[in-house]
Amino acid sequence: MGLDDLLNGVQTLAILCNQWGDTGKGKFSDYFASYWADVTARGTGGNNAGHTVVVNGIEKIFHLIPAGILNDYRGQITILGNGMVIDLSVLAHELDELELDKITYNNLMISKDASVIMPYQVNRDKAKDQSQKGGGIGSTGRGIGPCYTDKIARRGIFIEDLFNKERLSKKIDKIREIYPEQKINTSDIIDSLTPFAERIKPFVRDTVSEMHRFLRERKKILLEGAQGLLLSIEHGTYPYVTSSDCSINGTASGVGISARMIDLPLGVVKFPFMTRVGAGPFPTELGGAKSELYCAEDNHAKINELINFKIPHEVIDDIARYDRKCEKIKEMINSSDELVQGIGIRLAAGEYGATTGRPRRIGWTDAAAARYAVGINGSLMILTKPDSLSIADEFKISYGYKNNFSFSKDEDLLRNTKPNYKSYEGYGDISGIRSYFELPGSLKNAIKDFEKFTGGRVASISVGPDREETIVRYHPK
Ligand code: GDP
Ligand code: IMO
Ligand code: MG
Repeated sequence: MGLDDLLNGVQTLAILCNQWGDTGKGKFSDYFASYWADVTARGTGGNNAGHTVVVNGIEKIFHLIPAGILNDYRGQITILGNGMVIDLSVLAHELDELELDKITYNNLMISKDASVIMPYQVNRDKAKDQSQKGGGIGSTGRGIGPCYTDKIARRGIFIEDLFNKERLSKKIDKIREIYPEQKINTSDIIDSLTPFAERIKPFVRDTVSEMHRFLRERKKILLEGAQGLLLSIEHGTYPYVTSSDCSINGTASGVGISARMIDLPLGVVKFPFMTRVGAGPFPTELGGAKSELYCAEDNHAKINELINFKIPHEVIDDIARYDRKCEKIKEMINSSDELVQGIGIRLAAGEYGATTGRPRRIGWTDAAAARYAVGINGSLMILTKPDSLSIADEFKISYGYKNNFSFSKDEDLLRNTKPNYKSYEGYGDISGIRSYFELPGSLKNAIKDFEKFTGGRVASISVGPDREETIVRYHPK
C-alpha cells in the first residue's frame, strides 16, 4: 500500500492532532505539501504553535506560516485563514527568516478576516497572575486567549481594519476601557502597526472566496491543523485549553469551508508515549502530579536536565547536543521511578517546546483519549515518534481507566482515575524500516490493540523526524 492508494480520489486532506499538540503535524503537513498539495491552508491559532519540519537533516520551525511555503517556488499557494490570530511582528520575523533561507513567498495569502493580536492582548496574557505557577493554565503568553476573547466579545481587530485608520482608531479607543490596567495610546499603537501592515498588504485577500474557487477548480487542498483536539475550546480539557476549536470542525471553518468537504482527515497521535505542555489533567503522566509541578517550575529546561542528570553533552552555538541513546538515558527510561522514567523519555525524544522551550510532560499513550478524538476527528490516524523509544526494555499503552472506559473532559474524573495499562516488550531500532510488515511484532501487536480499542485505523507510521522517515500503510477505501 502506498501514498497513491491513500490519496486516491482525495481533494481535501487535513492534518489534525488527536492529543495535546506537538504530535508532528508540521512533519506531515510538509510531507503532503511536498508530495501532493496545490494549496496549504491553516485555520486556527497563532504563534502559540510550533511546527517542526526536517528536510535532509535541516530543521525549520514554523509558528504562523504553514509548512507548504517550502513549495512556493513551484507555485503552491499558502493561506493564513480567517480563523487565525496573527501577531504582525511575529509574521514579519517569519518572513525575514524565509528570506534569509532563500525561500520565496510569492503565493502567500493572508485572510482579510483573520484577527490581529494587539500588544495589549500580549501584555495581558503575559501578566503574572496568568502564569502556571501563579495558578494559571500556563498559556504560551502570546496573546492568543485575549485576542479570541475580544473577537467573541465583538470588539476584535481584523487584518482589513489595518487599512482603514479611522475605523482602527475608533475600535482601539473603545477597547481601552477593557484593559484599564494598561496605558493604551491609540496613535502609538497604530504607528507601530503601520510598517507591518504595509509589508503584508500585497498578500491580503478574501481567502474564503479564494478557497471556494480552489475547490471549484479541483485543486488539491491541505489543511494544516494547529494545537490538538484535547486543547480545543470546545472538546478539550477545559479550562486547560487554548481558545480556538482545533478539532476538524474549527480547522475547516477557520479556512471558510465545511468539515464535510474534508475527504481525508488524519489525526496525529504520539505513540507509545504522549505529551502535554502547560497545566491540566493527564491521567497517564509518568510521575503524576509531581511531574506536572516539576515541569511548571523554572530551571527544568533541556540544559538543566542534561546537567542535573549528568548526561554527557556539549553546547555548540547555544544548542545543547547529546546522544539521545546514551547509557545514562537508557538507565533512566528503564527506571522504576516513574518521574525519572518520564524525564528519560523526554531526553530520548527531545520533548522540549518548539515555541517556549518548556519541558513537555510525558505519559504513556492514552487509548481512551484517542478513542474520544476519533469520535470527533474521524477514524484515520498517523502514529509518530515510536523510533525515539528504541532503548526502552518495555512500553505501555493505557486502555481506559479503572471502572470507566471512556475519556471525558471532567477534571475530577481525569485527575482521580487510574489507567489500565497493558505492557509490551521493547522493540529496538526501527528508524530504517519503511514497510509496516517489517516492524517488530510487539509494536505491531500494540498497534492492533490500539486500533481495536479506539475503533480507528492507522494509515501511516512515522519512524523519524525527516520527511522520508515515513511508513504509509493503509488504504482507506
Ligand atoms: P507539531 O506542533 O505537531 O508540528 O509538533 P512539534 O514540531 O511541536 O513537535 C514534534 C517534534 O517531533 C518535532 O521535533 C519533530 O521534528 C519531531 N518528530 C515528528 N515526527 C517524528 C518521528 O516520527 N520521530 C521522531 N524521532 N521525531 C519526530
Ligand atoms: P502546536 O500547534 C502544545 C497549550 C499551552 C497551554 C494552553 C493554552 O505546536 O501543537 P495558549 O497560549 O494557546 O492560550 O495556551 O495550550 N498550547 C499548546 N501545546 N502545542 C501547541 O501547538 C500549543 N498551543 C497551545 O501550552 O497549556
Ligand atoms: Mg508544536
